[in-house]
Amino acid sequence: SSAPGELPMYSRETRNARQPGTQDNSGSSRVTRPTRKLSPALGVKYVSGKPEKLTPEQARARAEELRRQIEEHNYYYYVLDAPRISDAEYDALVRELEELEGRFPELVTPDSPTQRVGGRPLEAFGTVSHPVPLLSLANAFNEGELADFDRRVRQAVGPVDYVVELKIDGLSVSVTYRDGLFVTGATRGDGLVGEDITQNLRTVVTLPLRLRRPVPYLVARGEAYLPKEAFARLNREREEAGEPTFANPRNAAAGSLRQLDPRVTASRPLRLFFYDLLVLEGEDEPPTHYQVLEYLQELGFPVNPHRYLCRSLEEIKERCREWEERRHELPYEIDGLVVKVDPRGLQRRLGNTSKNPRWAVAYKFPPEEAVTTVEDIIVRVGRTGVLTPTAVLTPVRLAGSTVGRATLHNEDYIREKDVRLGDQVVIHKAGDVIPEVVRVLTERRTGRERPYTMPRRCPECGSEAVRPPGEAAVRCTGGLACPAQVRERIIHFASREAMDIEHLGPAVVTQLLEAGLIGDAGDLYYLHQRYDDLVKLERFGPQSAKNLLSAIEKSKQNRLSQLIFGLGIRYVGGRAAQVLSRHFGSLERLIQATEEELVQVPEIGPKIASSVVEFFRQEGNLRVLEKIVRAGVNTRELREEQGTGPLAGRTFVLTGTLASFTRKEAQELIESLGGRVTGSVSRNTDYVVVGENPGSKYDRAVALGITLLDEAAFKDLIGRYSGRTAGADRGGAKGREI
Ligand code: IVH
Repeated sequence: SSAPGELPMYSRETRNARQPGTQDNSGSSRVTRPTRKLSPALGVKYVSGKPEKLTPEQARARAEELRRQIEEHNYYYYVLDAPRISDAEYDALVRELEELEGRFPELVTPDSPTQRVGGRPLEAFGTVSHPVPLLSLANAFNEGELADFDRRVRQAVGPVDYVVELKIDGLSVSVTYRDGLFVTGATRGDGLVGEDITQNLRTVVTLPLRLRRPVPYLVARGEAYLPKEAFARLNREREEAGEPTFANPRNAAAGSLRQLDPRVTASRPLRLFFYDLLVLEGEDEPPTHYQVLEYLQELGFPVNPHRYLCRSLEEIKERCREWEERRHELPYEIDGLVVKVDPRGLQRRLGNTSKNPRWAVAYKFPPEEAVTTVEDIIVRVGRTGVLTPTAVLTPVRLAGSTVGRATLHNEDYIREKDVRLGDQVVIHKAGDVIPEVVRVLTERRTGRERPYTMPRRCPECGSEAVRPPGEAAVRCTGGLACPAQVRERIIHFASREAMDIEHLGPAVVTQLLEAGLIGDAGDLYYLHQRYDDLVKLERFGPQSAKNLLSAIEKSKQNRLSQLIFGLGIRYVGGRAAQVLSRHFGSLERLIQATEEELVQVPEIGPKIASSVVEFFRQEGNLRVLEKIVRAGVNTRELREEQGTGPLAGRTFVLTGTLASFTRKEAQELIESLGGRVTGSVSRNTDYVVVGENPGSKYDRAVALGITLLDEAAFKDLIGRYSGRTAGADRGGAKGREI
């Protein structure tokens, strides 16, 4: 990425999580703030957690300043691709703002970066009439058609410069700003009227909520997309959860933005690129498209960096060839390039047909596809009993690898595409990951192809397979009586993203099940008692048995989020597991959580909430859990998880005796929320918790101007973040209950 030399650069990897305001419970604004012990006269700086001594005026000014800084850093990070502060520093700014807004709710503005968490679910989308039609592009499928476009343009207006951009494969959106503030976002719809997706767009981290100048009125157009990685992860999670997968990143982006529950949108890492200025009032429009792109970027919009001013058809063609080669380097899908006439005046002179501008064309890449034969259709039974039809293909080369299977997703997909056994089909890789059957070459049918029907019984256990109304998936009803479900659950439990148990791949799981050494994931932790049987298994010996047992033993120390994910609760993917782990802090608390409590958690929607409650209601699951807990598997948030909690990056020092906690308890509480406890006070200390008879740490804290928390203040802080007092009176000290 492009860093201006002198500035420190920070790793971008961890920033996917950079979604301000997602860690807190939104009901927090009524919390009483910690009481301040030190007066400003002692030189204490106004730090977060202590805003109650600020006058409303000071608070407003500070909130303004924080918002400005956060937006500035978002801009460096997302638009210029050159962050200037570390994630921890950034998070500290966001947290301070959250705390300030919690104390002074009247300071919350709609453009505050804390307002990106999804708001309330909608009943239905409203509609938005676009002030100017959102046209779509005519396509050029080869260089000849590109030359035709160039010829038509030159005939009409003479020789011109063009801008060549990437054609992002996403969903077209328009955004409206008044006085520099984001007010409305809409889908393209039919080009004249779109759906109002303001709430959802607000959750997209790269959308500027406030422009860098208060432009009186502006409407811009861009593309919302889901990066390839996120697409692959989302589909993996959906497949595991028995939900229909998205056919491509574009559908995934559209599905994510057209969610009535904005929290679902917020949980999907959508991104945006802007490429057009539709309306501008109060400032002069840049005279060329290239300058429009720069203008948009200056205002704070993310604009794709790969853009080229081309002076001739030859230059355009070269860019087309270049990107056809390089498309796989990008972390998002492109399906071609867009060529646009550069001078806006000439664009207007060229005008539009009823549907397309005459001044632009989409050069579409030939799709990366291959033709092969469906030799068989088999059904895989997943962890939650979903039957996924899979085509067994004559192996064929496609986009750099050999493909022998392709997903058919579900029953409807097979019917829609009319895939039959023996058919010649076109396959492609969606988002560069999962091979998929795109269409059948019906013209090549011989009459010997046989239609396929989904089995009515589970191929693994013979239980009835049903398709619940409104769902795309056919499910085995065997539950824990279905060996495939049992096996898949254990495989999932042991998998890398879950409990990460080495030496316990699908083959070993099957072997252990068949030998009767385990019946569920809980039994893994008692496998050492069956050592004598274990070593006798085929391909096992003393060494491999020991390796396996010690890997299982090691997994007891895993993070809580790994365990939660490993349980395989429907709809609870890696991200949700992390959120739940962080929020509830222990498995026990999660088990006790009610649906109402769960939906309060940012990013947790009603579907996840009811699925979690349902999971812990089932006897069979509780039995497995009991074995796991009894074996001593970690069920609490550990120190390793500090990077991410609401107190992440905060350092605490404890001094004196607390009435309602032992020192160890206090430390664990802080750590469970991501904070750190150290033994001595330094300038890096954020809070000193002061109990009865404090020691010299207290004096040093005073000398350094560190924020002091008495016990009540400490409880408030913890209570605010732990969410354990959610719904209850959060106003005062809660004693040991916190
Ligand atoms: S320009 C009038 N530029 O491709 C100008 N479109 O029909 C219309 N797209 O609906 C669009 N990347 O959703 C333009 N750099 C880009 C684009 C882009 C993706 C999409 C857009 C449009 C479709 C073409």
